[in-house]
Amino acid sequence: MSSDQKQTATVPEGGVVRVEEWTSGEWQDFLLRKSWLTPQERVSKVTRLAGGNMNLSLKVTHTSGEMFIKQGRPWVEKYPQFEAPWGRTALEADFYLCTRDTARIRDAMPAFIGIDAELQVLATQWIADTTEASSIYAEQSGSQFLRQHSEFLLSYLEALNGSEVKKLEGRFDQNPLKLLNSFHIHDYPFQAEQIRVAEEASLQNLGWLRDARFTKVRDEMKADYLGTGDHFLHGDFYPGSLMIKEGRPIVIDSEFCMMGRSEFDAGNLFGHLILAGAKSNEIEIEWSGSRYFQSLDLGYLKKTAGIEILRRTLGVAKVREFKSPEAFAALIDSARALLFQ
Ligand SMILES: Nc1ncnc2c1ncn2[C@@H]1O[C@H](COP(=O)(O)OP(=O)(O)OP(=O)(O)O)[C@@H](O)[C@H]1O
Ligand SMILES: [Mg+2]
Repeated sequence: MSSDQKQTATVPEGGVVRVEEWTSGEWQDFLLRKSWLTPQERVSKVTRLAGGNMNLSLKVTHTSGEMFIKQGRPWVEKYPQFEAPWGRTALEADFYLCTRDTARIRDAMPAFIGIDAELQVLATQWIADTTEASSIYAEQSGSQFLRQHSEFLLSYLEALNGSEVKKLEGRFDQNPLKLLNSFHIHDYPFQAEQIRVAEEASLQNLGWLRDARFTKVRDEMKADYLGTGDHFLHGDFYPGSLMIKEGRPIVIDSEFCMMGRSEFDAGNLFGHLILAGAKSNEIEIEWSGSRYFQSLDLGYLKKTAGIEILRRTLGVAKVREFKSPEAFAALIDSARALLFQ
């Protein structure tokens, strides 16, 4: 492994290089030095992308095509007042490096071009003409998405969860992003104020979210999430990490990758399909033919889905709007049913 591929845990002494301020000429020099471009290729334009909350995302246009560039800085791009761990972009690159020999994973993702660990700059193939899978929330087309893409996505997760990455220096054991993410999954959504706001929006008493029975499940899931596990996970497996091209999902954004319980990725997806209007039994029936799904602990998977639905409804990272208090209440009820079957 080259020094570039190792994680750099601390911000360089000179501070973070703000690559968005580079001229085309500076990009040209950098990309050539990295051998990500050939001397014959010239950079013509660098555009900042609107999507992406955590990181800086750029499109570099050059004479023979385009490239996707991502830089993870020690802050959350959309909310710069919040810190984020330096080194996460190199970890995303490690994900690509560790999985590139597995066709089922590699072929479902943009091609990896390279990583500069010093700058925390990742380059991948630019994927043109995609649609955002996240449209399924507004369209409430989760059932259709389920039928179209389940086989592909479960096959991807099966290959990923079976990857032998444990030998690789254990660097996926403790992704520092987990602490930040856990706060947003297990803590913030269930603070008194968030529950109160949800009670107002649903016109329901949500006292069960304050009860010891719920808190116990939530605490157990938090401990599991923050611990280590036997399976390699994407860590952020939901429509926001999927782009659709020619009717097929492309998986992106593996910066949350980690070792954990297999049910975590599949459970997240299960929860998001429900957020997009699919029904729990419909997902179970659709997935029942998959050997991979059969190998998972269904009860635990459903708990994961339940927590994910709640955090996307009560927490910061909301994914959809609700037409009525009844629709809001119905979703919270479905999360409760998944948590306490
Ligand atoms: N290889 C690619 N080709 C074209 N567009 C891409 C590519 N990778 C990502 N994008 C676009 O850039 C956006 C941001 O990418 P990504 O999700 O990796 O960044 P992020 O900062 O980690 O986002 P988030 O904060 O939502 O997790 C994506 O939503 C997608 O629209
Ligand atoms: Mg991300």
